[in-house]
Amino acid sequence: MPEQQCPLFVSLEGGEGAGKTSLIVALKAALEAKGLSVVSTREPGGTPLGEVIRQWLLNHDASIKIGNTAELLLFLAVRAQHIEDVIAPALREGKVVLCDRFNDSTIAYQGAARGLGVDFVQQLCASVCKEVVPSITLYLDVDPSIGLRRTRRATKENAATGMVDRIESEKLAFHMAVRDAMLQQAKASPERMHIIDASQSRAHVFEKAM
Ligand code: TMP
Repeated sequence: MPEQQCPLFVSLEGGEGAGKTSLIVALKAALEAKGLSVVSTREPGGTPLGEVIRQWLLNHDASIKIGNTAELLLFLAVRAQHIEDVIAPALREGKVVLCDRFNDSTIAYQGAARGLGVDFVQQLCASVCKEVVPSITLYLDVDPSIGLRRTRRATKENAATGMVDRIESEKLAFHMAVRDAMLQQAKASPERMHIIDASQSRAHVFEKAM
């Protein structure tokens, strides 16, 4: 992570319950303590439009069917608006952007696990993002059966988090396919994508990320 202010786009990836959200909070605080200007944001979300689409994508209303292609295009619509309104302006101002999920999620969840095709989804992501892509990706790797147990425990303990969402409630095999795809992406881009063992303690994960 940088010592001096310069534009830097970092994405954090991981399966359900990998601990991305708490890592981002800790990283933002640590980087700000070094005097850096940091924007933390998330996908799906990050803009008013993105947060509305997030509800559509993750809500549990079974009467509203979302097909795989529609799902892919909704994630990409979120991304297009997010880049235009938040990520590109922050990078132009020389800030560090920490983004909870980005293209690797779309490639792993929609391209691999939903079966739309890794190459096809990769190409669409490239068309949407053009040059605005992360230069570092931290992939928090955890066995999906451990991650899902963590998520379900947190949901149970904290009524405010509500129900398990539409994608979390997919079968274990779906989440295993996501993990396999993430590991393949990390293998294909070792200079950008760094694997962190997220079955370890939060302190260990934070130390590796810094
Ligand atoms: P999270 O913000 O709690 O990680 O939840 C976001 C969910 O959306 C998670 O299950 C992964 C999924 N997702 C996709 O399927 N495709 C995408 O492109 C993105 C960004 C997220």
